[in-house]
Amino acid sequence: MDTRIIKINKKEIDKNLIKAGAKLIQDGKLVAFPTETVYGLGANGLDRQAVESIYKAKGRPSDNPLILHISSIDQIYPLVREVSQLAYEVIEKFWPGPLTLIFEKSHLLPDIITAGLDTVAIRMPNHPIAQELISEAGLPIAAPSANLSGKPSPTNAGHVIEDMMGKIPMIIDGGKTNIGLESTVLDLSGEGPLILRPGAITYEGLKDIIPNLSYDNHINNQNAAPKSPGQKYRHYAPEAEMILFTGQIEDIAEEINSRTRDLMNNNKKVGIMATKETKDRYNKGIVKVVGSRIHRETIASDLFRIIREFDKENVNIILAEGVEMDNIGRAIMNRMLKAAGGKVVNL
Ligand code: TXA
Ligand code: MG
Repeated sequence: MDTRIIKINKKEIDKNLIKAGAKLIQDGKLVAFPTETVYGLGANGLDRQAVESIYKAKGRPSDNPLILHISSIDQIYPLVREVSQLAYEVIEKFWPGPLTLIFEKSHLLPDIITAGLDTVAIRMPNHPIAQELISEAGLPIAAPSANLSGKPSPTNAGHVIEDMMGKIPMIIDGGKTNIGLESTVLDLSGEGPLILRPGAITYEGLKDIIPNLSYDNHINNQNAAPKSPGQKYRHYAPEAEMILFTGQIEDIAEEINSRTRDLMNNNKKVGIMATKETKDRYNKGIVKVVGSRIHRETIASDLFRIIREFDKENVNIILAEGVEMDNIGRAIMNRMLKAAGGKVVNL
């Protein structure tokens, strides 16, 4: 299949290009598009065959449900059983934005969207290209991250091209995504409100309006079964082995330096994931800077790109510095832990 790559400037959107994308969606085809978090692989969320082709293009396990993306609140009513008072308050404060909400689903939805669950995930993105595409299509757009299953989520169009070229008819290049990690997933459908996946809308930020908020057990203990099916996979995974180090930064650097020496003596190609503030502590191995510890949002926005870059260099092993676990650090550490397949050294 020929893949058409179209560039759209998010500050000056060419409506004709959006129309071409929306037409493909209406015709049951796939279009990759930017959101503020990561690129999505979109299809008509009400068309079972179109949704099936998402799973196929990604190689995604069929037990992992998708998020429906909407551009106005009216679109939510046919998709869910009810919107609670609390959900309205959360929506009011955080939509459009990097927050996905789980609702009890309506009977209108094809089972394939929700992988057979009674609940459905919905998000209203705040990226202008995503908003225009959804409203022009006039449909809820089902969209997982636009990577091959198991690869890090794409944060620029180049990543989408690597994974989807020849598999889908259109990729909309809207530049680098802003946040770089997937949306927070918040479940308001059960007994108590739960964060199923941490993201840029943080526990600390949500707690003000949801005092009884907790994390799904799986987020603190990788051995507990997750409520969000996607969390059980070794996502975001680099090809190389990855080890994550936590503790005082002096101890982390010392340990990484000593392991790097040993590994290189054994002819291993070693990648070191450092930060702007710590990079000069390392003088061996392939050192890459993943943002700044003072502004952890920059670590979030660079993380998946850096993992892809290490893969391109064919390193055998990545030694990565951890960050503090509060605020956005939660989401960063969640993705790093998954990339490392749970291999953590606490110093
Ligand atoms: O930022 C994002 O959320 C991006 C952009 C494209 O919007 N999308 C994204 O989709 O990350 P995906 O498919 O890669 O991740 C969706 C996550 C998965 O972990 C999935 O298991 C979970 O949401 N999910 C979807 N429906 C669910 C449901 N009904 N109950 C629990 N978890 C659900
Ligand atoms: Mg994904």
